[in-house]
Amino acid sequence: MRSARTAHTTQEIAGVYVCLCNALTDGQVRAAAAAGATRPKDVFATCGCGAQCANCTRLMLSILREGLAANAAS
Ligand code: FES
Repeated sequence: MRSARTAHTTQEIAGVYVCLCNALTDGQVRAAAAAGATRPKDVFATCGCGAQCANCTRLMLSILREGLAANAAS
């Protein structure tokens, strides 16, 4: 049996917080990407908030790029 500690990617964990300042989850980032967001500032705008510490932007970009790559492959 696999524990949460052994998960390595955001795809293996459902509903993880990406942005702690705004309590945004990976699902919200993916939903924003599906709505056309390509940059973290687009995600913030879609979710009605803004960057505060910006520590989340690298992970957010990674999730956005995963979505863009998946769309390009399909
Ligand atoms: S963690 Fe996202 S703005 Fe601080």
